[in-house]
Amino acid sequence: MYPEDEIARRVTAMGEEITAAYPADEPLLILGLLKGSFIFLADLVRKIARPLHVDFLVVSSYGSGTVTSGEIRLLYDPEASFEGQHVLLVEDIIDSGTTLNRLVPLLEGRRPKSLELCTLLHKRIARGLVKEPRWVGFDAPGEFLIGYGLDHSEDYRNLPFIASLAVDGSAEGSTNA
Ligand code: PRP
Repeated sequence: MYPEDEIARRVTAMGEEITAAYPADEPLLILGLLKGSFIFLADLVRKIARPLHVDFLVVSSYGSGTVTSGEIRLLYDPEASFEGQHVLLVEDIIDSGTTLNRLVPLLEGRRPKSLELCTLLHKRIARGLVKEPRWVGFDAPGEFLIGYGLDHSEDYRNLPFIASLAVDGSAEGSTNA
């Protein structure tokens, strides 16, 4: 659905926009949500031409199927105060919005100078998203997507492109969470 060169062009453009959006002398923390964002984050930070720090959050939904469970687990958390820092949370995909709706209040409670969201893919199906992402790579269809960090039961993360798992339309409407 999204070939390697198309992703690379979009990531470069997002990196340039992010570079321009923050004052160069103010601290910027890029917070990657694992595991899904690891490839996107690695490519994105190399297109952001300014000083920054990188840390990660590990949040995982229960189960390994293609249907969201509505429950999340916080497995790793930097537990740092974000006071005085701009925090940019990097996601691979926003699906039901459950993950972000749980995380955003937690991160805002740590008093960052600003909190913005950047996602490579946005399915635009989340109702009542507590915060809309400032940067979106692509509006994604309601199909189960794999590759470029996105998995199905931990497989396919290493594909350099993004594909739909549906071969006959059977994954239509299924979720990535
Ligand atoms: C996936 C994806 C997002 C989240 C989006 O993570 O990486 O973080 O689901 O879904 P939502 O908007 O419905 O909450 P997952 O929990 O599968 O873990 P992973 O990143 O380790 O693949």
